[in-house]
Amino acid sequence: MFRLEFDNYEYSGEGISESIAGLLEKDLGFYDLVMREDEHIEIKNFASEVSGEYDRVVVLGIGGSALGIKTIRDTILPKKDRDDLRIIDNVDPDFVYENTYDLDLERTLFVVITKSGGTSETMSLFMNMKAKVERAGLEYKDKFVFVTDPENGLLRKIADRDDVKTFEVPQNVGGRYSVLSAVGLLPAALAGVNIDELINGGKVIRDLLLRDDEDENICFRMAKFQADNYKDGININVLFPYSNHLLRFGEWYAQLLAESIGKSQDVGITPVTALGATDQHSQLQLYSDGPDDKMYQFLRVNEFQNDMKIALDTEDDLIMEKFEFLNGVKFGELLNTELEGTRESLCEKNRPSLSLDINKIDAENLGGLFMLYEGSTALLGELLEVDAFNQPGVERSKVLTKEFLAKRND
Ligand code: PA5
Repeated sequence: MFRLEFDNYEYSGEGISESIAGLLEKDLGFYDLVMREDEHIEIKNFASEVSGEYDRVVVLGIGGSALGIKTIRDTILPKKDRDDLRIIDNVDPDFVYENTYDLDLERTLFVVITKSGGTSETMSLFMNMKAKVERAGLEYKDKFVFVTDPENGLLRKIADRDDVKTFEVPQNVGGRYSVLSAVGLLPAALAGVNIDELINGGKVIRDLLLRDDEDENICFRMAKFQADNYKDGININVLFPYSNHLLRFGEWYAQLLAESIGKSQDVGITPVTALGATDQHSQLQLYSDGPDDKMYQFLRVNEFQNDMKIALDTEDDLIMEKFEFLNGVKFGELLNTELEGTRESLCEKNRPSLSLDINKIDAENLGGLFMLYEGSTALLGELLEVDAFNQPGVERSKVLTKEFLAKRND
């Protein structure tokens, strides 16, 4: 499905058996999300039942409950349809206003996504939108669907009390590993994405993730690249997609890597995203000549949906003098040649990099990418001996915010 190559890095499969065994010992649900066929059917049935009733879906969620669906929307939905799936993942009042002032509440379906069922940002957005819907004289439970824990949390209690349609986030799946659950799949299906394609891509990589084969297991190869470089003192990871559509994927991955691996004073990898070719003109100077503390991951798309020739005017001497090398070249080829140029220039400076080839951007490959990066991050946790599935630092900030606001009301 994907082709992986390394530069300035000597791969060895050492540690693969122990890492896989470490994952299997844990109660992890993320890689089996793609096998939950009954749930997939329920999601698809619900989406087709309500299709036609709504013009717009509005997701309320934050962090792992929003980054995945934002990535799906901005990677594979056509630009003209993206505004029909709004994602409110902050409580910045101007942002909330911009995304809600023009809603036709009669024709809007709100999807509230929170695994814990009690995150302040999401719950305050929920309360605000519920009040709006009720003020408009509408029955709120007809306009809302929840995605939350099957048993625990405030939102689950509200769902049970008010009989709101609810999908679940399995208890053994953390927020940042949940995109292939109802967290990502439900809003995707409501927006018209063929979720079977996302799931099928995820399945291809799931079958490799637990395979004790150092050449076949692409998740392990990526994890080992990061672990070995980290042990050599390199603690910044630059994800360098040469595709505007994959920019959001970088945001999703930043959370996955930062929250999964940053666990103590001694262990953590800082995620950075750079967009090729744009950021060659902003960040590359640092990468090329600055400190040797970064590893690079190039994402190359082989086939673009709308590739086109650069319309070079071969009659124009001034242009031809300088740009004859572009004669007959398409934008996609220019972009990917720039990738090769950047890759080679970093290689000359002995910077370690991996390059991942993606045939084209579609739902199946995106599903595969999600599973690939989740699997490799989980294995990286094993190799670096950290718990890649908790987030005590995030929890602490949630608790303090509640305490500060409670004091203000005393
Ligand atoms: O990865 C995580 O666990 C966090 O980023 C959560 O997704 C985020 O804090 C939102 O939590 P919840 O889904 O419980 O509202």
